[in-house]
Amino acid sequence: MKLGSIMSLICIFSVCFCLALYLCCDLRCKRFAEHLAQLEEAEEIFDCFTLSYRSFGIQRRSDNGLVLREWAPGAEAVFLTGDFSKFLGKNSLGNYTSPKVDKSPAIKHLTKLKLVVLTKTGEYLFWISPWAKYVTKTLDSVTYDWTHWDPPQRYQFQHTRPPRPSSLRIYEAHVGISSPEGKIASYKNFTRDVLPHIKDLLMAIMEHAYYASFGYQVTNFFAASSRFGTPDDLKHLVDTAHSMGITVLLDVVHRHASSNTEDGLNYFDGTDSCFFHGGSRGNHSLWGSRLFNYSSWEVARFLLSNLRWWKEEYHFDGFRFDAVTSMLYQHHGIGHHFWGNYSEYFGMHVDEDALVYLMLANHILHKLYPQCITVAEDVSGMPGLCRPIEEGGLGFDYRLTMAVPDKWIQVLKEVGAEDWDLKNIVHTLTNKRRGEASITYAESHDQVNNLQVTGILADGQRYVHQHLIAMTPVIDRGIQLFKLIRLLTHSLGGNEFGHPEWLDFPKKGNNESYYYAHRLFNLVDIEHLRYRQLYAFDRDMNLTEDKYGWLAAVTTLNQADKVIVFERANLLFVFNFHPCNSYIDYRVAVEHAGKYPFTRDLQKTST
Ligand SMILES: *[C@@H]1O[C@H](CO)[C@@H](O)[C@H](O)[C@H]1NC(C)=O
Ligand SMILES: *[C@@H]1O[C@H](CO)[C@@H](O)[C@H](O)[C@H]1NC(C)=O
Ligand SMILES: *[C@@H]1O[C@H](CO)[C@@H](O)[C@H](O)[C@H]1NC(C)=O
Ligand SMILES: *[C@@H]1O[C@H](CO)[C@@H](O)[C@H](O)[C@H]1NC(C)=O
Ligand SMILES: *[C@@H]1O[C@H](CO)[C@@H](O)[C@H](O)[C@H]1NC(C)=O
Ligand SMILES: *[C@@H]1O[C@H](CO)[C@@H](O)[C@H](O)[C@H]1NC(C)=O
Ligand SMILES: *[C@@H]1O[C@H](CO)[C@@H](O)[C@H](O)[C@H]1NC(C)=O
Repeated sequence: MKLGSIMSLICIFSVCFCLALYLCCDLRCKRFAEHLAQLEEAEEIFDCFTLSYRSFGIQRRSDNGLVLREWAPGAEAVFLTGDFSKFLGKNSLGNYTSPKVDKSPAIKHLTKLKLVVLTKTGEYLFWISPWAKYVTKTLDSVTYDWTHWDPPQRYQFQHTRPPRPSSLRIYEAHVGISSPEGKIASYKNFTRDVLPHIKDLLMAIMEHAYYASFGYQVTNFFAASSRFGTPDDLKHLVDTAHSMGITVLLDVVHRHASSNTEDGLNYFDGTDSCFFHGGSRGNHSLWGSRLFNYSSWEVARFLLSNLRWWKEEYHFDGFRFDAVTSMLYQHHGIGHHFWGNYSEYFGMHVDEDALVYLMLANHILHKLYPQCITVAEDVSGMPGLCRPIEEGGLGFDYRLTMAVPDKWIQVLKEVGAEDWDLKNIVHTLTNKRRGEASITYAESHDQVNNLQVTGILADGQRYVHQHLIAMTPVIDRGIQLFKLIRLLTHSLGGNEFGHPEWLDFPKKGNNESYYYAHRLFNLVDIEHLRYRQLYAFDRDMNLTEDKYGWLAAVTTLNQADKVIVFERANLLFVFNFHPCNSYIDYRVAVEHAGKYPFTRDLQKTST
C-alpha cells in the first residue's frame, strides 16, 4: 500500500472516531434528559421524588396515626409488627401499602418494629424497612433491630453551613476508630476530641452490620450508625463542625449493598431482584455484595432520596461517591488496567444506567444546593467526569486521583531514594484531565487499610526515638522525606496528617481485637514528640496554601538532578530529592526574570 493511502486511511479513521465519541456523549445526554423529564412528569418535580423518605417507610401523620408505605413488587403482602405485639396494618399486594391507622397513641419513640413480608410462596419474612432511620443492636444479638425514631423534640441546628471553600484540603475520618483507646469512639467523643484537629470527610456513617467492612457494606442506608451514638449526636457533630468553619462531606456508598437479609436490603420482597439486578449481574464477585439496578424507577427514588436525606436531615455539605469506577463499567474495573484508550470509556462495557444515575444525582444536588460538593472516587479516568452535564459531562466537582498514594507506596517500598524516577513521579502527580478538578492525597485510607503505611518511611522505628532530643538518622530522614512528599503532593495536588499506624477492625481473624482500630490524634498534643512538628508543618503548609491558593492554579514543570522545580500561583517550588547532594547557586529556569524572595511561611514554626 502506498504511503498516501495509509495516511488517508488514518485520517478517515480518526474522523469516524471523533464522530463516535460525539454520538456517545450525545446519547448519554439524551438518556439523561429523558430520565429527568420522566421524573419531572411523573412526580411533578424531582423535588418530591427525591424527598420520598418523607412518604416511605413508616410516617406519623398529623393526626398521630401512622402510614406504612413500602415498595415490594415481588411480595404478596406487607405487615407491620412490633413491641406492641400485634399486626398494625395489613394489605394485600406489595407495592405501596397503607395500613389501617391505629388511633392514638402513635407508635412510641424507640419502639422495636419489624416488617413482615409475606412472599408469593407463603413464607413470612421478618425484615427491617429499607427506609428505617435508626437501627440498634444489643451486645448479645447477632442482627440489628429496627428502632422507631420519632423523638418528642427534633434536633435544632444552631449553625449555618460555612461557605463553599475555593480549594479543598480534606481530612478523611472514621468516627469509631478516632480515639487512642482500643474501643469504639462515639459521635460525641469525635465532636469533642477530634474535630478541633481537622478538616473533614466522614466515613462509615450509614449503618453497616459488619464493622470490619469499614462501612463499605451498608445494611441500612437511612440509619446513621448507632455504634457511635444516636442520630442527634451525629447532627450535633455536623453542627459543631460547621461552627468551626469545617465543611463536612459524607462518604456515600451507592455502588452496592451488604448481602445481609434480615437487617439488610437483600431479598426484601422475597426475590433477588428487588433493588438489585437479579441473577449473577446482581452479585459482586469480589466483594460478595449486591449490586443496585439503576434502571429501576424505585431504586432511583431510594438512592436519590437517600442523598436528600443526608443533606436535609444531617446538613452534610457534600458527598464523596465511593467506587465510581466499579459503577461505570460492566466489568466493574475488576482485573482491568485503564490505558487511557478512549474506546475504554464508551460502548457496551459502560453501564449507561449507572452513569445516568450519577448524572441525575449530580444534577439534582447542584440544582437544589448550588454549594454542594461532589467527589468521585474513580481510577479509570472517565473523560468528562468532572465537567458540567450541559457539556456532556457527569457533573462531579472533583475526581479523587487514586494513583498518587499508590505511586508513593510503590516507590517507597520498591525503590531506594537514590533511584527514584522523578520523571515518573511527576508524571503520576500531573496525569490529570485538563479542565477537570481533582483531589490528590499523599496517602489515603486505602493505603492505611491495606497495611501500607507512612511507617515504611521510618523502618519500624515509628514509635521509638520520636522524642525531640533523641533523634536517629532513620527517623530524621523519614520525617524529612515525608514532609517533602507531602509538600510536593500538596502543591501539585491535597493532604492528610500522617498516622503512624496501620488500621484493622476487630474481626474473627484477629480475635475481635481493637488493637489496630484506633487513631492516635493525641500524639500531636504531646509537647516533646516530633509528631507535633509534623503537625505544625502540615498546618503551615495549609496556611501557606490558604494565602497563595496554589491548589486552584495551573502548573509548569522542570526537572534535573533529583530536583523538581515548578511554578504555581506565583510561587516557585524547588524540591531536592537527592539523598546526599546539596546544591549551591543552582540555576533554574523561571517564567519571569526578577528577585524571588524566600517565603518564610513554612519556616516559622516547623523545623
Ligand atoms: C405499583 O404502583 C405503581 C405506581 O403507583 C403502579 O404503576 C403499579 O402498577 C403498581 N404495581 C403493582 C404490582 O401493583
Ligand atoms: C469517649 O468519651 C467518654 C466520656 O468522656 C470517655 O469515658 C470514653 O472513654 C471515650 N471513649 C473513647 C473510645 O475515647
Ligand atoms: C432492572 O430493572 C428494570 C426496571 O425495573 C427491569 O426491567 C430489569 O429487568 C432489571 N434488571 C435485572 C437484571 O434485574
Ligand atoms: C449471589 O451470591 C449469593 C451469596 O451471596 C448466592 O447465594 C447466589 O447464588 C449468587 N447468585 C448468583 C446468580 O450468582
Ligand atoms: C483500544 O482498545 C480497544 C479495545 O480494548 C482495542 O481494540 C484497540 O486496539 C485499542 N487501541 C489502541 C490505540 O490501543
Ligand atoms: C486468638 O486467641 C487464641 C486463644 O486465646 C490464640 O490461640 C490465638 O493464637 C489467637 N489468635 C490471634 C490471631 O491472635
Ligand atoms: C487549614 O487552614 C484553614 C484556613 O486557614 C483553617 O481554617 C484550618 O483550621 C487549617 N487546618 C489546620 C489543620 O491547620
